[in-house]
Amino acid sequence: MSKKLKTLIIAGARPNFMKVAPIIQQIQRYSEDVANNGTQLEYRLIHTGQHYDEKMSDVFFAELGIPAPDINLAVGSGSHAEQTANVMIKFEPICEQEKPDWVVVVGDVNSTLACTLVCAKLGIKVAHVEAGLRSYDRSMPEEVNRIVTDALADLLLTPSADANENLIREGIPASKIRLVGNVMIDSLMNNLEKARSSPILDRIGLKQKGFVYVTLHRPSNVDKQSALTLLMSALGKVAKELPVVFPMHPRTRKMCEQFNIPLDEIDGLQIVDPLGYHDSLCLTEAARFVLTDSGGLQEESTYFKTPCLTLRSNTERPVTVTMGSNKLSNLDRLSADIDEVLGRNTTIGQIPPLWDGRTSERIISSIIEAS
Ligand code: UD1
Repeated sequence: MSKKLKTLIIAGARPNFMKVAPIIQQIQRYSEDVANNGTQLEYRLIHTGQHYDEKMSDVFFAELGIPAPDINLAVGSGSHAEQTANVMIKFEPICEQEKPDWVVVVGDVNSTLACTLVCAKLGIKVAHVEAGLRSYDRSMPEEVNRIVTDALADLLLTPSADANENLIREGIPASKIRLVGNVMIDSLMNNLEKARSSPILDRIGLKQKGFVYVTLHRPSNVDKQSALTLLMSALGKVAKELPVVFPMHPRTRKMCEQFNIPLDEIDGLQIVDPLGYHDSLCLTEAARFVLTDSGGLQEESTYFKTPCLTLRSNTERPVTVTMGSNKLSNLDRLSADIDEVLGRNTTIGQIPPLWDGRTSERIISSIIEAS
C-alpha cells in the first residue's frame, strides 16, 4: 500500500550542513526511484538561523548543493537559554502548520536539542542522526544536548558501535537504535574531487605536507583569558617549526578582541577568516598534521589518515583515537606530541567501519522501516 511520509529536516549551525546535504540528496534519489515500494517521501528544510554569516552558513549551502531552506527561523546568536528558547518558540508553530510524520535532527548543537524538545511535547517522531556519542563531560554544552536529544528521540541513528553501547547503558531500548555509519563521510566522499581541486594552498602559499592546520573554538579553550593566551603562545612556538594556518571561528576572534590578544604579531602564523567546506577538506588532507578541538575535523583527518592532535581532555568520537589518526593532547604535552608526529614517516590509522559513503541510504531506509 502506498504510504506518504513528510519529514522536516533541521539544520542550524555549521557542522550540521555537511550532515543534512547527503540526507536531502538521498530523499531526492528515493523519490525518483520507481522501485521505492510506493512510499512517497516529502521533506521541508528548516534552517534555524543559529549560524547566519555568509562564511558560517551560505557558503556551505552553495558548495554542498543544499537547496535553499523552505523556512528560516532566523534565531541568531544568544545565550544558551535564549538561543534554545527562540528556536523552540519559532519551531512550534511550524510543526503545527506542517504536521510532519518525522523531524530529522543531526549532531549536537542547540538547534538539535530545541527542535527535539518541541517535537517530544507535540508527539511528533524524531530521528536523531549521530546519536549516542558521549564525551562523558557535562561541562560541554554539546554533551547536554546529546543526552537530552537521545533520551527523547524515537529513532537513534548511530555512527559507530560505541554509540550503541552508550545508549544501551542509558537504558534506551535496542529497538530504537540503528547503526547506520558516519553521514559526514558521505559528504566528504561526494566532495573529494572538488576539495582536491581547491586553489587554497597556492592562495595562501602553503606546500603539501608542509604546514599545520589549526581550528579552535570550544568554550573550554577560548572563553577563558588564561587558556586562550597560553594557546596562542603555544601556536607561536609551533609556527617556529612549520607554517601554521588558523581559520578563526567568530567566537575565537571575539574572545581574542575581548582579551586584547594581538593576532598579527606571530611569525609563521596565518590567521584567516573561516573557510568553506572544500578549502577545509583540502587543507585537512594536505596538512602535515591538524591541531583542533572540532568534532568534525577529528573525523575528517581520520578519513585522510592525516595525524590529528585534539586539544581536549576527552572526545565523544573515540573511534578516531582507537582506529584513526587522532590523539588527545594538552598544552603540557603538546610539544612532545608534535615531535612524535613529525618524527613518524608512515601514516597511521584505518578508516572505521561504515565510513563508506552510504550512510544516508541507511538513514532513509531506517526511517521508512520505523514508520
Ligand atoms: C556552535 C555549537 C558547537 C559547534 C559550533 C561550530 C552549540 C551549543 N554549539 O558553537 O557545537 O561546534 O557551533 O561552529 O550549539 N557568530 C557569528 N556568526 C555566526 C554564528 C556565530 O559571528 O554565523 C558568533 C557570535 O558572536 C556568537 C558566537 O559566534 O555569539 C558563538 O556562536 P554560537 O552559535 O553560540 O556557538 P558556536 O561557538 O558557534
